Amino acid sequence: MLLDRLEKLKRERRAVILAHNYMLPEIQDAADYVGDSLELAIKAMETEADVIVLAGVRFMAEVAKLLNPDRIVLHPEPAAGCPLASFATPRLLREAKQEHPGAPLVIYVNSYVEAKAEADYVVTSASAIDAVKRLEAEKVLFAPDKNLAEWVQENVPEKQVIPVPRHGRCPVHEYLVSGYYVRLAKEQHPEARVLVHPEAPREARRLAEYIGSTSQMLRYIGRTDPKGSYIIGTEEGLAYRAKRLYPEATIYPVSVRTVCIDMKKITLEKIVHSLETLKPQVEIPSNIAKRAREAVERGLELVGKKPRK
Ligand code: 13P
Ligand code: SF4
Repeated sequence: MLLDRLEKLKRERRAVILAHNYMLPEIQDAADYVGDSLELAIKAMETEADVIVLAGVRFMAEVAKLLNPDRIVLHPEPAAGCPLASFATPRLLREAKQEHPGAPLVIYVNSYVEAKAEADYVVTSASAIDAVKRLEAEKVLFAPDKNLAEWVQENVPEKQVIPVPRHGRCPVHEYLVSGYYVRLAKEQHPEARVLVHPEAPREARRLAEYIGSTSQMLRYIGRTDPKGSYIIGTEEGLAYRAKRLYPEATIYPVSVRTVCIDMKKITLEKIVHSLETLKPQVEIPSNIAKRAREAVERGLELVGKKPRK
């Protein structure tokens, strides 16, 4: 059985499986830890395991490797990228810095390691507002998600938040967690509270009772009413997680279409195969790794999370 092989391999390799909240149900059930991007980075920072399997998209595996240069980090499917991350090209970021000298470049964790190497601070959806508030600068460059940048701007009106580029967006949230789909879900379930990820466009955010990272949405359910009804305005994997954590709650995905194909490229079979072969490993060229790691550490320190030195 696949699960028995997985357990045996985990013991033999002294491995830990860190899985994002969007993973397939069977992966969430088999993982040692399931969380949002910030929590996965913190877990990667704290683990004593010899091998980390990052069940998520590529930039998440890269962050785990940046924080664990001496450990083996496996990413079971390197083709699991993130179309949002692709908007932050190093060249575009360098041009923006030249155009706005002195403005710190804050980059969303949904970016590749080459882009992080250009940035001053790496933030996640759970830390972005706090981090930008704590910066001394009045003008901040924010890459690559325009919706997240706009949400940060709404919450930090005392600063100017400049989106880089102007049109960076996640296709899942921009088009499938749109105002249209949220309105439709509200019409069908008028009793349900609406929770939306900040990558969703403004029209959808305006219709939400709560906006936050994937794990922040889960905590909102726990503290508001674990027996209540909720529309989950993000990738459908979170609806499974919410049902697991709060079996008495009624959970509606915002639509049946909110699937991130990249997240779904990771399967239990590929995880087992990567533990068997210890491949594919995440490797990052040392010059890029140093700068990107410093940006990740500065971002974590900004919100009070101390990286291991
Ligand atoms: P979280 O950090 O909120 O889990 O978000 C990750 C992500 O990819 C959202 O699309
Ligand atoms: Fe990237 Fe969007 Fe998929 Fe998250 S849901 S990994 S932002 S494409």
